[in-house]
Amino acid sequence: MAKSLLERAYDPEAFRELGKSLVDTLAGHLHAAQNGRGKVLDYRDAADELAFWKSFPEKNSSFAAWTEEVLRHTTQVHHPRYMGHQVAPPLPLASLAALLGEFLNNGMAVYEMGMAPTAMERLVTDWLCDRAGFGPDARGFLTSGGTLANLTALLAARRARGRDDVWNRGYSGRQAILVGEAAHYCIDRAARIMGMGRQGVIRVPVDAGYRMRTDELHRLYNQALADGLEPIALVGSAPSTATGSYDPIEELADFCTSRDLWLHIDGAHGGSALLSEKYRGLMRGVHRADSLVIDGHKMLGLPVLTTALLFRKGSVSYTTFSQEAEYLLTETQEEDWYNLAKRTFECTKLTSAFCWHAVISQYGESVFPAYLDRQYDLAREFAGMIRQRPNWELAVSPQSNIVCFRWVPPGAGKEVCNEINARIRGEILKEGRFYIVQTQLNGLTFLRTSLMNPFTTREHLEELLETCEKYGEA
Ligand SMILES: Cc1ncc(COP(=O)(O)O)c(C=O)c1O
Repeated sequence: MAKSLLERAYDPEAFRELGKSLVDTLAGHLHAAQNGRGKVLDYRDAADELAFWKSFPEKNSSFAAWTEEVLRHTTQVHHPRYMGHQVAPPLPLASLAALLGEFLNNGMAVYEMGMAPTAMERLVTDWLCDRAGFGPDARGFLTSGGTLANLTALLAARRARGRDDVWNRGYSGRQAILVGEAAHYCIDRAARIMGMGRQGVIRVPVDAGYRMRTDELHRLYNQALADGLEPIALVGSAPSTATGSYDPIEELADFCTSRDLWLHIDGAHGGSALLSEKYRGLMRGVHRADSLVIDGHKMLGLPVLTTALLFRKGSVSYTTFSQEAEYLLTETQEEDWYNLAKRTFECTKLTSAFCWHAVISQYGESVFPAYLDRQYDLAREFAGMIRQRPNWELAVSPQSNIVCFRWVPPGAGKEVCNEINARIRGEILKEGRFYIVQTQLNGLTFLRTSLMNPFTTREHLEELLETCEKYGEA
């Protein structure tokens, strides 16, 4: 008897064949990309892309053909000339672990809908808390992205430090946060979602290295009080997005202690430096933070979205979405750590612990600093190369793997330089041999690379500079 559509769609043998062929294709893709073959991306504008996919089912039907087109129409993060946004080329094993999670589809909202990932999540976040030096009361969880984790941390800060009972009575207050001017826009967005408005986001100026100027904190804090605001938290970047600069966490912690402010560290990009012997110093003082975000999908080689949100005093994370501290089971007085939805914004959530745990259990935790150290070292080397070439300017000596630089031909003024650098970036995007981005710093247009790929070498970077010069001189 012929199988029904649903029987065919769920057929284990068909799945086996499709899966084998997909992994085979991806392995070939990985090999080609890693060896620098082909373009990093074949850029088309959005209207063309939409038209392509609109007509696609008429031309092809097989899953293999569909996969091939997806590969052709996406950005190859595994390519060593990928140096654009801050997403890691995921360790292939971690991608397989993610596939496992997507297949099992355990939603994790309650413990029995994800026993293994819940236990793994506890182990992974305990380990990260331990490395951060948070002490025995710490707890964390995994959530969907740095943006959501930062919002969740600030909601916890409000519950812990705010005067008002916003959870029950709604927001009518004048709360504010202090944050460096160079922080990621999601901090500003979080504060506004929380009802603080523009006035509630107090921007602390940055120094020439784009690090928060802690000498401005007292003045801004006192001004906020004079304006009738109620500062609840200070947010540091570890590092900032545009230039990859680390705020001086120890100094931030001193200030927070003196004013009883919540200290939140947005380490979405480079919080994992605390796992590195070589670069741990960038995170000095982090053990005094109240909360810390680390994205696995940035400097830990994991797939999207694998974010850890860690709390020095774990009990506060149980009050973020509830009036009472519901961290004990009523009958046994044991901590209810395994019902994660009590603490996370999400109800159903990704089993991203699989990615963390699979990598740690197969390769050991040293794979993380091995990756971070290599990329941070390479950025320093790249900065040295830029310094040595005429007509190039660095925005700042890199502290992480992010390098901002611009082509400054002799005699060219600000507007001309901006136009040339924007043109260089545009031509590079069209050409597709490299993928880099651009950023504005103090009104100047800089080219920006995040050196995410562990197979990017000095030779690729030489070639990048030569390509930029070619377009700059054109
Ligand atoms: C410093 C910083 N914080 C937060 C984010 C947002 O994280 P996500 O993209 O995981 O939401 C980013 C993203 O680049 C970032 O660089």
